[in-house]
Amino acid sequence: MREVVAGAVISAGRLLLARRTYPPEVAGLWELPGGKVEPGETRGGALERELAEELGIEVAAGEQIGVGVPLREDLSLVALAATLVAGDPRPTEHSAVCWVDADALRQMAAAGELVPADAVWLDDLAGLLT
Ligand code: C5P
Repeated sequence: MREVVAGAVISAGRLLLARRTYPPEVAGLWELPGGKVEPGETRGGALERELAEELGIEVAAGEQIGVGVPLREDLSLVALAATLVAGDPRPTEHSAVCWVDADALRQMAAAGELVPADAVWLDDLAGLLT
């Protein structure tokens, strides 16, 4: 069983979202950025590494947010809160990033602009932003 860890990075009351480029089913949709936990890594360590690699930011990983989401039989997704420590996100694998408040997040969810797995956390995420 492998895990994907996604980060709810909050800075100045806004949440960081990143737009995926693959696979085709979710290309163009927005997600909490993250990636797979490697053997021997903690969830928090994996998140901090992935966000440094993908966005060039330093974050401090915190508590789990919401429920875990099964992605496939052998893969599940968890979200961790994270605070931005240093850097300005510059995507290397995503096509764009944006910072949203609770209203903008809800509008994007209603418009179907979030990846389906992450939309499960809408109320948890909006709660962090209000
Ligand atoms: O980013 P990566 O390709 O490593 O993600 C692995 C899987 O996790 C993909 O199926 C992706 O769609 C999913 N994922 C997700 N929500 C995220 C991050 C990844 O559903 N926030």
